[in-house]
Amino acid sequence: MAAEEDKGVTQRQLSKHLQLSKQTSMSSMNRLNSSTGSKKTRSKNKDQHFTDVHGLPCIENLVCSVDESPEPITTTIAGNIPSWIKGNFLRNGPGKFEIGRSSFNHWFDGMALLHQFHIENGNVTYMSRFLNSDCYTANLEHNRIIMSEFGTVAMPDPCKNFFQRFLSRFELPKPTDNANVSFVQYKGDYYVSTETNFMHKIDPETLETKEKVDWSKFIAINGATAHPHVDPDGTTYNMGNSYTPKGAFYNIIMVPSKKEKQNDTLEGATVVCSIPSEDKSKPSYYHSFAMSENFVVFIEQPIKMDLLKIVTSKLRGKGISEGVYWDPKRNTVFHVINKHTGKPSLVKYYAKPLSTFHQINCYEENGFLIMDMCCSDDGQAINNYKIQNLKKSGNALDEIYNTMSRVFPRRFVLPLNLDSDKPCGENLNTRSNSTATAIKTDKNKVFCTHEDLHGDDLHEFGGLEFPHINYSMCNSHPYRYFYGCGFRHLVGDSLIKMDLQGKKITVWKHADMYPSEPIFVPSPGAVEEDDGVILSVVITPNQDKSTFLLVLDGKTFEELGRAEVPINIPYGFHGTFQHGH
Ligand SMILES: [Fe+2]
Repeated sequence: MAAEEDKGVTQRQLSKHLQLSKQTSMSSMNRLNSSTGSKKTRSKNKDQHFTDVHGLPCIENLVCSVDESPEPITTTIAGNIPSWIKGNFLRNGPGKFEIGRSSFNHWFDGMALLHQFHIENGNVTYMSRFLNSDCYTANLEHNRIIMSEFGTVAMPDPCKNFFQRFLSRFELPKPTDNANVSFVQYKGDYYVSTETNFMHKIDPETLETKEKVDWSKFIAINGATAHPHVDPDGTTYNMGNSYTPKGAFYNIIMVPSKKEKQNDTLEGATVVCSIPSEDKSKPSYYHSFAMSENFVVFIEQPIKMDLLKIVTSKLRGKGISEGVYWDPKRNTVFHVINKHTGKPSLVKYYAKPLSTFHQINCYEENGFLIMDMCCSDDGQAINNYKIQNLKKSGNALDEIYNTMSRVFPRRFVLPLNLDSDKPCGENLNTRSNSTATAIKTDKNKVFCTHEDLHGDDLHEFGGLEFPHINYSMCNSHPYRYFYGCGFRHLVGDSLIKMDLQGKKITVWKHADMYPSEPIFVPSPGAVEEDDGVILSVVITPNQDKSTFLLVLDGKTFEELGRAEVPINIPYGFHGTFQHGH
């Protein structure tokens, strides 16, 4: 009886919290991660080896804390940086992992450090600034971590008395404003984003933090992904969760392309469609979504967030990350929504359990939706990105890498019009040269299997993540090339260009060099898809102060030049190129 009462109270508390709190932040949780499910699952996975790699070099310095460099630093150019490249290559990522004597547990938790490579007339300067977030300021002020992050629980203030410390454990987790994932644009302005309800507007010229923006002030959502999609007219789409007494919802959001007033931020944002989570208190985690000309595809993958565990995480002294788990008993569901009408397709598309962080491209052709994305068969990867793991060396480091499933580019083909006369069991993917299948299993159900978007040779480079395309020319259209990082280590250790005609790869790889996600910048007036350059920041953790900005020819993938920065920079997550005028 007592147990029943306890349960009732807990459920009520959860329901109240879901109703009232606009804060829970998926976000933080949002960045996913693996985890717990059950002890049985955990031990099983511990034994699972996906590869048998030996002798990985130590990469401890990729997660070293650095000082900011707010004054532009001159770089040393080797080779030739094409003079037509003019603008700011902006990047975001964690740059401070210790505050006083306390340190963060997870790579995703480090304080956001914003980087700018200013490229003009063949020269490059570098500068960086820490994001002036509330949690950065508060942490520095107290000289210890006082705001919990995804994998780090802020400890109660030792200066409080015992009773105050006890009570502080009952506080709900507050969403972080440590926006360390990406640079994004809304209405022409630059913001840094994580996955909570908070973003910060940034001056891309100075990297100064201008304004903290709260999604939940404009629209009933608790956060938004760090990977919005943009239509050619500047209209931006994103996705975010909301928590209501009826359970959790996945929302598709639209932000208009233009400002009404000079200081506008997210004014005019609307919810295009709300999709209820099948399990009310355990929605799926998602890091991004796919978008074609007329549709948004929400990929409901079996990485689940246990909201009860998350809202009680502080009470239990656990990180939010421990409430996120892989549930491979569930299939993946593709929800196709008309982005103009907000209507979800009656047809539900299913696939076997997969995890995906980043989409490559998505387009409509002859009644089919072609959806390309980086996928893995296992959803537990992220818990491996604890700082303690990244600092390992020798066999212990090899062991971490070998127990992580590789990520590969895959294509799904979804038939948009389901003929009711078609018998079940038939493959509806009638596209020639496509090995993906789409089998009708019921009136409005289709089960999909993928086509590998690569040959066997990609295995030797550890798969591919951080995909990029010539976005302005090809997003939501048929395309031929994508770029990404190969993963023969815990972070990217090569750059790969994929030619989908023949699935041929070209690779840039050098020992002990760790390139960031490749960003394609088209040449002025380019007509061909790969006419331009690839920008990537290459970190050299075992060689002091030799980080460089790498410029590759988009066509040949050969090095055109590099700009060597005489300071150390930690490995970052995402970036963008701001074209100069
Ligand atoms: Fe991402």
